Amino acid sequence: MESLKMPLFNGIALAIILIISAQAQGTDINIVYLAKAPASAPFSSSPVPAPAPAPLYVNVSNVLEQAGQFKTFLSLIAGTKVETQLQTQANNTQQGLTLFAPSDGAFSSLRPQYKAMLRMLTDEQKTSLVEYHALPMFYSLGQFQSLSGPLSTMGSYKFNVSAFGAQVNVSTGLVNAPLTSSVFSQAPVAVYEVNKVLLPEEIFGLPIPTPAPSPEPVSAPTPALSPSVGVQSPLSSSDHTNAAAHTWPLNAKGSVIQSGLFMFVFLFLLLNQ
Ligand SMILES: *[C@@H]1O[C@H](CO)[C@@H](O)[C@H](O)[C@H]1NC(C)=O
Ligand SMILES: *[C@@H]1O[C@H](CO)[C@@H](O)[C@H](O)[C@H]1NC(C)=O
Ligand SMILES: *[C@@H]1O[C@H](CO)[C@@H](O)[C@H](O)[C@H]1NC(C)=O
Ligand SMILES: *[C@@H]1O[C@H](CO)[C@@H](O)[C@H](O)[C@H]1NC(C)=O
Repeated sequence: MESLKMPLFNGIALAIILIISAQAQGTDINIVYLAKAPASAPFSSSPVPAPAPAPLYVNVSNVLEQAGQFKTFLSLIAGTKVETQLQTQANNTQQGLTLFAPSDGAFSSLRPQYKAMLRMLTDEQKTSLVEYHALPMFYSLGQFQSLSGPLSTMGSYKFNVSAFGAQVNVSTGLVNAPLTSSVFSQAPVAVYEVNKVLLPEEIFGLPIPTPAPSPEPVSAPTPALSPSVGVQSPLSSSDHTNAAAHTWPLNAKGSVIQSGLFMFVFLFLLLNQ
Protein backbone atom coordinates (compact mmCIF):
# COMPACT_ATOMS: atom_id res chain seq x y z
CA MET A 1 0.00 0.00 0.00
CA GLU A 2 1.35 3.39 -0.91
CA SER A 3 1.88 5.86 1.84
CA LEU A 4 -0.82 8.44 2.12
CA LYS A 5 0.02 11.77 0.57
CA MET A 6 -1.83 14.78 1.87
CA PRO A 7 -1.64 17.88 -0.21
CA LEU A 8 -2.84 19.97 2.72
CA PHE A 9 -0.06 18.83 4.99
CA ASN A 10 1.48 22.26 5.09
CA GLY A 11 2.94 24.42 7.84
CA ILE A 12 -0.44 25.14 9.40
CA ALA A 13 -1.29 21.47 9.83
CA LEU A 14 2.13 20.94 11.30
CA ALA A 15 1.54 23.81 13.69
CA ILE A 16 -1.76 22.33 14.82
CA ILE A 17 -0.16 18.94 15.41
CA LEU A 18 2.64 20.57 17.37
CA ILE A 19 0.14 22.48 19.50
CA ILE A 20 -1.85 19.33 20.20
CA SER A 21 1.20 17.30 21.08
CA ALA A 22 2.58 20.12 23.22
CA GLN A 23 -0.69 20.22 25.11
CA ALA A 24 -0.83 16.48 25.46
CA GLN A 25 2.57 16.59 27.07
CA GLY A 26 1.50 19.65 28.99
CA THR A 27 4.97 20.94 29.37
CA ASP A 28 7.49 22.48 27.12
CA ILE A 29 7.10 26.12 26.34
CA ASN A 30 9.65 25.87 23.54
CA ILE A 31 7.30 23.63 21.65
CA VAL A 32 4.61 26.27 21.98
CA TYR A 33 7.02 28.81 20.55
CA LEU A 34 7.58 26.66 17.46
CA ALA A 35 3.89 26.21 16.99
CA LYS A 36 3.20 29.94 16.90
CA ALA A 37 1.14 30.62 13.81
CA PRO A 38 2.16 33.36 11.37
CA ALA A 39 0.99 36.60 12.99
CA SER A 40 -0.24 38.68 10.08
CA ALA A 41 -2.54 36.91 7.72
CA PRO A 42 -3.46 39.02 4.68
CA PHE A 43 -6.87 40.63 4.74
CA SER A 44 -9.51 38.34 3.41
CA SER A 45 -12.83 39.37 1.95
CA SER A 46 -14.33 36.07 2.97
CA PRO A 47 -16.75 36.45 5.92
CA VAL A 48 -15.94 32.97 7.21
CA PRO A 49 -14.59 33.44 10.74
CA ALA A 50 -11.13 32.07 11.34
CA PRO A 51 -11.05 29.08 13.68
CA ALA A 52 -10.28 30.13 17.24
CA PRO A 53 -6.59 29.55 17.94
CA ALA A 54 -5.72 27.03 20.59
CA PRO A 55 -5.22 28.91 23.89
CA LEU A 56 -1.59 29.44 24.66
CA TYR A 57 -0.58 27.92 27.98
CA VAL A 58 2.43 29.58 29.48
CA ASN A 59 3.91 28.11 32.63
CA VAL A 60 5.20 31.20 34.44
CA SER A 61 7.59 29.39 36.78
CA ASN A 62 8.99 27.53 33.84
CA VAL A 63 9.65 30.75 31.91
CA LEU A 64 11.55 32.15 34.91
CA GLU A 65 13.43 28.91 35.41
CA GLN A 66 14.47 28.62 31.78
CA ALA A 67 15.75 32.19 31.73
CA GLY A 68 18.23 31.27 34.46
CA GLN A 69 18.80 34.63 36.19
CA PHE A 70 15.73 34.67 38.45
CA LYS A 71 16.66 32.08 41.07
CA THR A 72 16.15 34.37 44.06
CA PHE A 73 12.79 35.61 42.81
CA LEU A 74 11.74 32.01 42.10
CA SER A 75 12.68 31.02 45.63
CA LEU A 76 10.25 33.66 46.93
CA ILE A 77 7.52 32.28 44.70
CA ALA A 78 8.02 28.53 44.56
CA GLY A 79 5.48 26.46 46.38
CA THR A 80 3.55 29.45 47.76
CA LYS A 81 0.02 30.57 47.03
CA VAL A 82 1.51 33.40 44.95
CA GLU A 83 2.76 30.84 42.45
CA THR A 84 -0.81 29.60 41.96
CA GLN A 85 -2.10 33.17 41.88
CA LEU A 86 0.34 34.20 39.14
CA GLN A 87 -0.41 31.10 37.11
CA THR A 88 -4.17 31.61 37.45
CA GLN A 89 -3.72 35.13 36.12
CA ALA A 90 -1.52 33.82 33.28
CA ASN A 91 -4.21 31.29 32.39
CA ASN A 92 -6.78 34.07 32.19
CA THR A 93 -6.64 34.81 28.48
CA GLN A 94 -9.04 37.77 28.81
CA GLN A 95 -6.71 39.77 31.04
CA GLY A 96 -3.42 38.01 31.33
CA LEU A 97 -0.33 38.83 33.34
CA THR A 98 2.62 41.20 33.20
CA LEU A 99 5.44 40.21 35.51
CA PHE A 100 8.46 42.38 36.34
CA ALA A 101 11.07 39.87 37.40
CA PRO A 102 14.07 41.16 39.35
CA SER A 103 17.29 39.41 38.38
CA ASP A 104 19.51 37.69 40.95
CA GLY A 105 21.80 40.69 40.57
CA ALA A 106 18.95 42.95 41.62
CA PHE A 107 18.66 41.10 44.92
CA SER A 108 22.39 40.94 45.55
CA SER A 109 22.83 44.65 44.88
CA LEU A 110 20.14 45.69 47.36
CA ARG A 111 21.34 48.09 50.02
CA PRO A 112 22.29 46.28 53.25
CA GLN A 113 19.34 47.70 55.18
CA TYR A 114 16.88 46.46 52.55
CA LYS A 115 18.57 43.06 52.48
CA ALA A 116 18.12 42.88 56.24
CA MET A 117 14.48 43.88 55.94
CA LEU A 118 13.91 41.32 53.20
CA ARG A 119 15.18 38.57 55.49
CA MET A 120 12.79 39.68 58.23
CA LEU A 121 9.62 39.83 56.14
CA THR A 122 6.66 37.76 57.26
CA ASP A 123 5.17 35.29 54.79
CA GLU A 124 2.35 37.72 54.21
CA GLN A 125 4.79 40.52 53.38
CA LYS A 126 6.74 38.24 51.05
CA THR A 127 3.50 37.51 49.24
CA SER A 128 2.79 41.24 48.99
CA LEU A 129 6.28 41.84 47.62
CA VAL A 130 5.83 39.27 44.85
CA GLU A 131 2.33 40.54 44.07
CA TYR A 132 3.81 44.01 43.76
CA HIS A 133 5.88 42.76 40.80
CA ALA A 134 2.83 41.70 38.81
CA LEU A 135 0.09 43.52 36.93
CA PRO A 136 -3.18 41.61 36.41
CA MET A 137 -3.17 42.50 32.72
CA PHE A 138 -1.01 41.75 29.71
CA TYR A 139 0.99 44.74 28.47
CA SER A 140 3.25 44.62 25.44
CA LEU A 141 6.18 47.04 25.56
CA GLY A 142 4.37 49.36 23.16
CA GLN A 143 1.32 49.58 25.40
CA PHE A 144 3.31 51.17 28.22
CA GLN A 145 3.52 54.34 26.13
CA SER A 146 -0.14 55.05 26.62
CA LEU A 147 -0.28 54.39 30.37
CA SER A 148 -0.13 57.18 32.86
CA GLY A 149 -0.69 57.57 36.57
CA PRO A 150 -0.47 54.92 39.24
CA LEU A 151 -1.11 51.32 38.17
CA SER A 152 -2.74 48.76 40.43
CA THR A 153 -0.56 45.72 40.88
CA MET A 154 -1.82 42.29 41.85
CA GLY A 155 -1.35 43.28 45.46
CA SER A 156 -2.80 46.29 47.22
CA TYR A 157 0.01 48.71 46.36
CA LYS A 158 0.57 50.77 43.23
CA PHE A 159 3.51 51.97 41.19
CA ASN A 160 4.04 54.29 38.24
CA VAL A 161 5.25 53.32 34.81
CA SER A 162 6.80 55.84 32.46
CA ALA A 163 7.87 55.11 28.93
CA PHE A 164 9.74 56.94 26.26
CA GLY A 165 10.44 55.00 23.08
CA ALA A 166 11.85 51.62 23.99
CA GLN A 167 12.75 52.87 27.46
CA VAL A 168 10.33 51.89 30.19
CA ASN A 169 10.76 52.67 33.89
CA VAL A 170 8.87 51.44 36.89
CA SER A 171 8.99 53.75 39.88
CA THR A 172 7.80 52.83 43.33
CA GLY A 173 8.76 55.98 45.19
CA LEU A 174 11.76 54.18 46.67
CA VAL A 175 13.14 52.71 43.46
CA ASN A 176 13.25 53.70 39.82
CA ALA A 177 13.83 50.53 37.79
CA PRO A 178 14.28 50.46 34.03
CA LEU A 179 13.15 47.34 32.19
CA THR A 180 16.37 45.71 31.05
CA SER A 181 15.02 42.98 28.80
CA SER A 182 11.93 41.29 27.54
CA VAL A 183 12.10 37.67 28.64
CA PHE A 184 8.76 36.58 27.25
CA SER A 185 6.01 38.63 25.65
CA GLN A 186 3.15 36.97 23.92
CA ALA A 187 -0.44 37.60 24.95
CA PRO A 188 -1.64 36.81 27.55
CA VAL A 189 1.72 36.69 29.34
CA ALA A 190 4.61 39.13 29.50
CA VAL A 191 7.72 38.72 31.64
CA TYR A 192 10.15 41.64 31.72
CA GLU A 193 13.44 41.73 33.56
CA VAL A 194 14.20 44.58 35.96
CA ASN A 195 17.64 45.03 37.48
CA LYS A 196 16.24 46.37 40.74
CA VAL A 197 13.85 44.83 43.21
CA LEU A 198 10.63 46.87 43.18
CA LEU A 199 10.40 47.93 46.80
CA PRO A 200 6.95 49.16 47.85
CA GLU A 201 7.12 52.16 50.15
CA GLU A 202 4.34 50.60 52.20
CA ILE A 203 6.74 47.84 53.31
CA PHE A 204 10.27 49.15 52.82
CA GLY A 205 9.53 52.78 53.57
CA LEU A 206 8.75 51.90 57.17
CA PRO A 207 11.32 52.83 59.79
CA ILE A 208 14.16 50.37 59.82
CA PRO A 209 13.93 48.20 62.94
CA THR A 210 16.89 49.09 65.11
CA PRO A 211 18.75 46.77 67.45
CA ALA A 212 18.24 47.18 71.21
CA PRO A 213 19.46 50.62 72.32
CA SER A 214 22.93 50.80 73.80
CA PRO A 215 23.19 51.39 77.58
CA GLU A 216 24.79 54.84 77.21
CA PRO A 217 21.81 57.15 76.73
CA VAL A 218 23.44 60.41 75.67
CA SER A 219 26.64 60.10 73.68
CA ALA A 220 25.45 57.44 71.23
CA PRO A 221 27.04 58.02 67.82
CA THR A 222 24.72 59.14 65.08
CA PRO A 223 23.71 56.18 62.97
CA ALA A 224 25.45 55.88 59.63
CA LEU A 225 22.19 55.23 57.85
CA SER A 226 21.01 58.25 55.98
CA PRO A 227 17.35 58.94 56.70
CA SER A 228 16.82 60.43 53.27
CA VAL A 229 14.61 58.18 51.25
CA GLY A 230 15.03 58.97 47.61
CA VAL A 231 15.51 57.34 44.27
CA GLN A 232 18.28 54.80 44.48
CA SER A 233 21.47 55.54 42.65
CA PRO A 234 21.14 54.14 39.15
CA LEU A 235 24.05 51.67 39.56
CA SER A 236 25.09 52.16 35.95
CA SER A 237 21.69 51.03 34.85
CA SER A 238 21.49 53.71 32.19
CA ASP A 239 24.02 51.70 30.18
CA HIS A 240 21.53 48.91 29.93
CA THR A 241 18.57 51.10 29.29
CA ASN A 242 19.51 52.07 25.76
CA ALA A 243 19.45 48.48 24.72
CA ALA A 244 16.27 47.75 26.64
CA ALA A 245 13.60 45.93 24.73
CA HIS A 246 15.93 45.10 21.90
CA THR A 247 18.09 42.66 23.74
CA TRP A 248 17.04 39.20 24.78
CA PRO A 249 19.92 38.08 26.92
CA LEU A 250 19.34 34.67 28.39
CA ASN A 251 22.04 35.10 30.92
CA ALA A 252 23.74 31.90 32.03
CA LYS A 253 26.18 33.68 34.29
CA GLY A 254 23.99 33.22 37.37
CA SER A 255 23.73 29.49 36.99
CA VAL A 256 27.46 29.14 36.35
CA ILE A 257 28.13 30.97 39.60
CA GLN A 258 25.56 28.85 41.38
CA SER A 259 27.00 25.59 40.12
CA GLY A 260 30.47 26.84 41.04
CA LEU A 261 29.28 27.52 44.57
CA PHE A 262 27.60 24.15 44.70
CA MET A 263 30.82 22.41 43.62
CA PHE A 264 32.75 24.35 46.21
CA VAL A 265 30.40 23.33 49.02
CA PHE A 266 30.40 19.75 47.78
CA LEU A 267 34.21 19.55 47.71
CA PHE A 268 34.41 21.25 51.09
CA LEU A 269 32.10 18.67 52.63
CA LEU A 270 33.96 15.85 50.91
CA LEU A 271 37.38 16.98 52.17
CA ASN A 272 36.07 17.45 55.68
CA GLN A 273 34.88 13.89 56.11
C1 LIG B 1 5.45 24.54 35.65
O1 LIG B 1 6.85 24.62 35.68
C2 LIG B 1 7.42 24.27 36.93
C3 LIG B 1 8.89 24.59 36.85
O2 LIG B 1 9.46 24.14 35.67
C4 LIG B 1 7.11 22.82 37.23
O3 LIG B 1 7.65 22.48 38.48
C5 LIG B 1 5.60 22.62 37.24
O4 LIG B 1 5.30 21.26 37.40
C6 LIG B 1 4.98 23.13 35.94
N1 LIG B 1 3.52 23.08 36.07
C7 LIG B 1 2.74 22.51 35.17
C8 LIG B 1 1.27 22.56 35.47
O5 LIG B 1 3.18 21.99 34.14
C1 LIG C 1 -3.30 26.68 34.08
O1 LIG C 1 -3.63 25.98 32.89
C2 LIG C 1 -2.95 24.73 32.75
C3 LIG C 1 -3.24 24.19 31.37
O2 LIG C 1 -4.60 24.26 31.08
C4 LIG C 1 -3.37 23.80 33.88
O3 LIG C 1 -2.67 22.59 33.77
C5 LIG C 1 -3.02 24.45 35.20
O4 LIG C 1 -3.48 23.66 36.27
C6 LIG C 1 -3.66 25.84 35.30
N1 LIG C 1 -3.15 26.46 36.51
C7 LIG C 1 -3.90 27.20 37.32
C8 LIG C 1 -3.26 27.70 38.57
O5 LIG C 1 -5.05 27.49 37.06
C1 LIG D 1 14.14 56.21 33.26
O1 LIG D 1 15.05 56.37 34.34
C2 LIG D 1 16.30 56.89 33.97
C3 LIG D 1 17.16 56.93 35.20
O2 LIG D 1 17.34 55.63 35.70
C4 LIG D 1 16.13 58.28 33.36
O3 LIG D 1 17.38 58.76 32.92
C5 LIG D 1 15.17 58.18 32.18
O4 LIG D 1 14.90 59.49 31.69
C6 LIG D 1 13.86 57.56 32.61
N1 LIG D 1 13.02 57.37 31.45
C7 LIG D 1 11.71 57.54 31.48
C8 LIG D 1 10.99 57.29 30.22
O5 LIG D 1 11.12 57.87 32.51
C1 LIG E 1 2.91 58.43 40.55
O1 LIG E 1 2.55 59.56 39.76
C2 LIG E 1 1.64 60.44 40.41
C3 LIG E 1 1.30 61.52 39.42
O2 LIG E 1 0.74 60.96 38.28
C4 LIG E 1 2.31 61.00 41.65
O3 LIG E 1 1.41 61.83 42.34
C5 LIG E 1 2.73 59.87 42.58
O4 LIG E 1 3.44 60.36 43.67
C6 LIG E 1 3.60 58.87 41.83
N1 LIG E 1 3.84 57.72 42.67
C7 LIG E 1 5.00 57.10 42.72
C8 LIG E 1 5.05 55.90 43.61
O5 LIG E 1 5.98 57.47 42.09
